[in-house]
Amino acid sequence: MLTSASTPIKSVAVVGAGLMGRRIAGVMARGGFRTVLTDANAEILPAALSDAQAMCSDVVELSTSADIADAVSGVDLVIEAIVENLEIKREVFKIMRASNAEAILATNSSVIPITAIASELADTSNCVGMHWWNPPDLIPIVEVIRGEGTSDAAMDLCFEALTRAGKLPVRVERDVPGFVGNRLQHALWREAIDLVASGVCDAETVDLVVRNTIGLRLAEMGPIENADYVGLDLTLAIHEQVLPSINSDPFPSAHLSELVAAGNLGAKSGSGFLEWPVGSREAAAARLSAHVSSQLSAQHHTD
Ligand SMILES: NC(=O)c1ccc[n+]([C@@H]2O[C@H](COP(=O)([O-])OP(=O)(O)OC[C@H]3O[C@@H](n4cnc5c(N)ncnc54)[C@H](O)[C@@H]3O)[C@@H](O)[C@H]2O)c1
Repeated sequence: MLTSASTPIKSVAVVGAGLMGRRIAGVMARGGFRTVLTDANAEILPAALSDAQAMCSDVVELSTSADIADAVSGVDLVIEAIVENLEIKREVFKIMRASNAEAILATNSSVIPITAIASELADTSNCVGMHWWNPPDLIPIVEVIRGEGTSDAAMDLCFEALTRAGKLPVRVERDVPGFVGNRLQHALWREAIDLVASGVCDAETVDLVVRNTIGLRLAEMGPIENADYVGLDLTLAIHEQVLPSINSDPFPSAHLSELVAAGNLGAKSGSGFLEWPVGSREAAAARLSAHVSSQLSAQHHTD
């Protein structure tokens, strides 16, 4: 088991070289960590490596391995970024631990608690949640989540390594599904979908209102500071009035389920709440990256 006197993390294996994993590997290599990237599908590794290398200078230590056990063996930290499936993640955690008894095992799961993923390991003190946001090279926050057995040393070492990699880690002290960011995000999405489903307004209007009201503010003032800023007496009065009619269903919207059942999956199928003509998905990705980059650079200028 690691102790608080453990040496800092120097080497990293990223398991899963898809959308997230290849960029997480790029961030860690760029931050000075010896990094190896692996995936069950060896065919994607050359393209994944070249995407990760494009984020780095020539001097970084970044490689790939088609063998997960080899990639994981001997490293200080493993970041798992494979498919979001509890059973598959559980199996991969057992394989990773069998090949490396000492490493901190971290999962980039979006919503599945680390306690569930690591539940079949004998010792979970070196298992943490490490939730990066997409695109992981741009979005500063990484949520570091304490599972039921996670040691202070494992939390501290991950926090320190992510800081060295140029990220803004935050501690999530209880292993709740969705952690902090996704709970907040999906509380908003549940209400957004319900407003459309119940005919209060159309889908375009929901996004227009969000982007031109709370969306304008949120990057500068979070909900807690904003509540204090407007006054907690006003916040209380608003909640007494509005909370009883805000959706609180503990299950997904029937409207959402119907869209999915009909094959209307959004951008990837051409139609969802909105229409997505060919090329519009790529245009949206570029628009989003450009906006996030310009917001971050504006923030750095005013820090
Ligand atoms: N996409 C996002 O916006 C986002 C954001 C935050 C967190 N996440 C989480 O990150 C993880 C990865 O998401 P993604 O979007 O990169 O997925 P992805 O589908 O792009 O990549 C997943 C990769 O895992 C590989 N894989 C599947 N099973 C494997 C196994 N048993 N062993 C090794 N490799 C295996 C696949 O071949 C694939 O290349 C998921 O847990 C997801 O919930 C995704």
